[in-house]
This record gives sequence, C-alpha cells and structure tokens, in this order.
Amino acid sequence: MKLWSGRLSGDVDARLNALNASIGFDSRMYRQDILGSIAHANMLGKIGVLSPEAQAEITGGLRGILEDIDNGKLEIDMTAEDIHTFVEGELTRRIGTNGKKLHTARSRNDQVALDIRLYLAEKIDGISALAKDFVLALCETAKGHLHTVMSGYTHLQRAQPITLAHWLMAYAQMLMRDLDRLSDCKKRTMISPLGSGALAGTTYPLDRMYVAEQLGMGGISENSLDGVSDRDFALELLSDLSIMMMHLSRFSEEICMWCSWEFRFVTLSDSFSTGSSIMPQKKNPDIAELVRGKTGRVYGDLTTLLTAMKALPLAYNKDMQEDKEALFDAIDTAELCLEVLSPMLRSAAFHPETMKRAAAQGFINATDCADYLVKKGIPFRDAYSITGRLVNRCMELNCTLETLPMEEYKSACPVFEQDIYAAIDLLNCVCLRKVDGGPAPEAVAKQIASVLARLGEDA
Ligand code: ARG
Repeated sequence: MKLWSGRLSGDVDARLNALNASIGFDSRMYRQDILGSIAHANMLGKIGVLSPEAQAEITGGLRGILEDIDNGKLEIDMTAEDIHTFVEGELTRRIGTNGKKLHTARSRNDQVALDIRLYLAEKIDGISALAKDFVLALCETAKGHLHTVMSGYTHLQRAQPITLAHWLMAYAQMLMRDLDRLSDCKKRTMISPLGSGALAGTTYPLDRMYVAEQLGMGGISENSLDGVSDRDFALELLSDLSIMMMHLSRFSEEICMWCSWEFRFVTLSDSFSTGSSIMPQKKNPDIAELVRGKTGRVYGDLTTLLTAMKALPLAYNKDMQEDKEALFDAIDTAELCLEVLSPMLRSAAFHPETMKRAAAQGFINATDCADYLVKKGIPFRDAYSITGRLVNRCMELNCTLETLPMEEYKSACPVFEQDIYAAIDLLNCVCLRKVDGGPAPEAVAKQIASVLARLGEDA
C-alpha cells in the first residue's frame, strides 16, 4: 500500500517500483527516521495538535518499533517504498488510528532531509574517531623515529635530509585538517529542516526549534524551499571525504613504493599483506593499493551527487533520492580504509638502516655543504657552483661528499677545513634544521606535542 494511494488508483507497475523504491538502501536510516518522528510527535503534542494520549501512543509505538528492529524481532519489509513508508505503516499496524496522525504537518521531503542529516552527523563522528586514531598511530610511530634519518624527495629525486618522524607528521597535519573540515561540516549538517513541509511550510503553528533541540541540532533551516532542497551538507561531506581519501592515497602510494625491493624502507606485517597465487616470493601491500584505488570511488561519489544536483529546479525533486547511495558508499569506503590503515601502520616495521643508506647516496647534504662555504664568507652562488663541481667529482670517484678526501675539497676551494665532515653529517644536517616546522628531532617533537594537545591526548 502506497502512502499516496488516494489520488492514484490501482497497483503501480513493478518496473516503476524497481526504479522508485529506495528501501533497499535507505533502510539503514531507520533509527534516525524513528527518532525524528518521535521528536515531531512530541512537538505536535506540545502545541496541542496531538492529544497527550495520541502523543504517548505514537511515541511509545515508535520506541517499540526501534527496539524491535534493533534486536532483530522486526524485519524491515523490503517491498515497502522507503523507510519512511515502512515505519509509518508499521506504527499504524501496531496502534491503529493514532498512527495515521504522525504525518500531520510533515512531508517526506522534509522528513528525508532530516533523516539524512542525522545519519550523516553520526557518521561524521564515527569517521572522525577513526581519523583521530590514524593520527595517533602516526604520532606513536613518529615518536620512535625522531632520529631516523631519511631523504626527503622533490620530483621523486633525493633532495634534503629529513627524518621518518617528520614525514609521518606531515600526514598527521593533513588528517588534522580533515578533522577540522569534518567538524565544520557537522555544524551545517545539524540544522533541522523539519517544518519545511513539502516545500511551503505548514499552516500549523509548529515549534520547530523544539524539534531541533530534542535531536541535539544547532538550529533550523530558515527557508522552507531551501530546507527541502538543500544537499550542500552532503556535498560538503563528500568533498571532505574526497580530500581525506586523497591524503590516504598519497600515504598509501608511498607505502607501496617503500615496500618495493628498490626502496625497502618498510616491511608490512604478514597479517596486513597478501601473497601471490603463482609467485611464491611475493608479499604485496594490497591494503595500501586498495586505499589508493578506492579513492577514485569516493571522488566518483562526489561527482555523482554534484551531477545529480546540477540544474535541479526548486524545490524537492526525486533526483535527490540519488544522494544516499553515493553518500553511503563514500562513508563505508572511508570507514573501511581508516579501519585498516591504522593497524597496518602500527604493525609495520620501518628500516632505519636502509633509509640511511639511501640517504647517504643522494648528495642530499649538498645544500649543507654550500651553506658551510657561505658561513666561511663565500657568496651563495659561488658556494652553489663549487658544491656542484664537488658532486660531479664524487660521481667520477664513485664516492659521497662524506667520503670525498680532504685534498679534493681543498682543491675545489681553500676555505674547506676538517670540520666540513661534521657539517655534512646527515644527522647533524637534520638536527640543525630546528626552525619551527623543520625536521630536527626537537622541532618534530614539538609538532607531535601540538597535534596531541589539539586532540586532547597526553603527550
Ligand atoms: N525516498 C525519498 C528520498 O529518498 C523520500 C522522499 C519522497 N518524496 C516524494 N515527494 N516522493 O528522497
């Protein structure tokens, strides 16, 4: 039985049903739908539209339905049109006439907008908790690698010395911004559209703020047309998740590279790796690859909703039902990726010796060598070209700046002294970069402390 039978007669064609029904995916909002209805019924009671008895019967009935779905006693009927239809139908089946009063002063248009907002707000909290845990995993790992020297890269070429902790904390910063964006998005999500009706509000003297308060929402939408047709909050969430996935995919890409024999900077634990069905020697970083791959899916979800919303006339249009699958897919994907990345990182073994060896081969202390000359009074441009010639000489002699003999230094420039070797020692080079935000152990320790403080965690 359709909610709208009355105007239309007879059964709808099964083919319409297949396209029209959303119960297959919106049933996951049953809790939000029921809690929204309870708040609505309480408000109708408060303003005298429902008698105290009707209010009590409706809210009691709704609570019973929620409990029964929660504990598996009531199965959601997948032949219902959507979750709103199902809950209202079940209520009327349970309590009779009063059940039919629930939908007074409400439309499914404002109802679904409310449900989706409540659902997303809950998911924002869940994803934020997972993202926070990933940041904590980054901080914990970083604490153990403040002195693990590695090369930082530009253009994927060895560039300057940093530490593994510095690298890890760069990702922590990205995730911190993701957390900020999510909490900002939640503010705009927790606005109640209920009372917008189908599009033009209602003639009942609704206490809209009372509904919002009961649901812990921060305010109410201020225009009924906008109230039912706004999906900005959903687009914001999809944008935020897309950006977050972009961060996770960059992290994953580096992990994939680092797992290769060419790098060998990290070994993932067996429980977070996979093998090959044919090549016995293989151990593959599938998790990182899948996170990288699934990022495209989340971008796709954002594009889906942006495209569905494009050029929609006011107010509600059925196109908007398409918001849910894109949102749910993006949420599920982000949750899944975060859930597995944190333990993957916590159980990974990084290889400081390999990192150091690679760092020693890339002349990444060349800038420090030039800076040494500058300190001895040589203009930077000259220091730069002297060092460039020294690097060429090292390549001819198949050695590094650290192992280049003193006479080579002297013949390139007489101001070189024995202390050049300390000046270009990689750990020294890192330790000297103690500018705020730099890779020196003390500077990175400060970054870790700042992130932990912002997360409300002990250092
Ligand atoms: N299932 C619909 C959705 O998700 C609910 C709103 C239906 N409103 C309507 N006028 N048909 O958007």
